[in-house]
Amino acid sequence: MGWNSWNAFGISPRLIEPIIEQTADLMVSLGLRDAGYRYLNIDDGWQGERDSDSRITVDAQRFPSGFKHLADYAHAKGLLFGLYSDAGTHTCGGKEGSLGYEDIDARTYADWGVDYLKYDNCFNRFLPIRPRFEKMRDALNATGRPIFYSLCEWGVDDVWEWGASVGNSWRVTDDLMDHWDSLAHNADDASQLHQHAGPGSWNDWDMLQVGNGGLRWIEEQAHFAMWCLSKSPLVIGTDLRKISPDALALLKNEELIAVHQDPLGKAARLAWHKGPYRVFSAPLADGSVAVVIWNRHTHFNAYFYDDGSQCNYTTATFPIPKKLMNHTEYFKPPPDHHPHTRRRRRLQDERGDTSVPPD
Ligand code: DGJ
Repeated sequence: MGWNSWNAFGISPRLIEPIIEQTADLMVSLGLRDAGYRYLNIDDGWQGERDSDSRITVDAQRFPSGFKHLADYAHAKGLLFGLYSDAGTHTCGGKEGSLGYEDIDARTYADWGVDYLKYDNCFNRFLPIRPRFEKMRDALNATGRPIFYSLCEWGVDDVWEWGASVGNSWRVTDDLMDHWDSLAHNADDASQLHQHAGPGSWNDWDMLQVGNGGLRWIEEQAHFAMWCLSKSPLVIGTDLRKISPDALALLKNEELIAVHQDPLGKAARLAWHKGPYRVFSAPLADGSVAVVIWNRHTHFNAYFYDDGSQCNYTTATFPIPKKLMNHTEYFKPPPDHHPHTRRRRRLQDERGDTSVPPD
């Protein structure tokens, strides 16, 4: 559980040292640290050039005191400090990558006091993925410093089959965008991988979009509940200087966080489905079962009664726009273009597993 700069700031030069310090302060004063959010992570864009010894430097315009200072700042507040790099020549944002520099970069991070590394997959020269991620794993381990290793390879190459021997978590989908379509689609894919998650090695459903404005309130609640039940890392992605009381209360919801932190560590599996409706369930350590009742409707496929007068269990915009009043199109799941989903579906068909909804 933690915070990451990407969803709120992207690669923007607006992300500067005082904002990271302020975010650390807010994680404490807003009660997020005490709710369990401990990692304070800087995503893409922080890198300067390599120096004459090939050591990566920090963009001195934006972070003039350097990262040892920011790591110390975070640690002094009872937080942990995380960074981002890439298993390619460059990061996705075009900064220096770590390919070929794994050992020196891992040592540099450890010297700075880094506790978490998110490792991306851009500009990879089409080299095989697993060895590149293993190289950084070995380099991090060689430092002797415990560093959470988050694989960010967007679910390619069936990472869920081998991720547990390489990192602590692995991304299972494309980037989660700040709208329900993206969220519902990613959840359909990611929830099929529940059996691969467990203590110490987690399916990463991507950073939270709670608080960013693209989801309706009920969608934000569904989003957070589902991420908790799936045991995905909970990484806040909003600007804490502007967070609303509702979003903050949702992120601090004690019952949901208790489900997320349950020591059994079982991820949500699809227990029932009909059309767009699903029930996901996960057993808990005390023998009880937590469920999420999930309405996967998208507002583009809203569900209306024929006279257009009512709208049931839908995330459609209210009031219903006039041009849609006689719209009687019922929900159809989008055609599934994701090759990994198709492959999983085929494998599940072969095994006679009926838990995946039909297209
Ligand atoms: C792609 C990742 O999936 C995102 O989360 C983010 O880290 C960007 N790269 C950064 O460029």
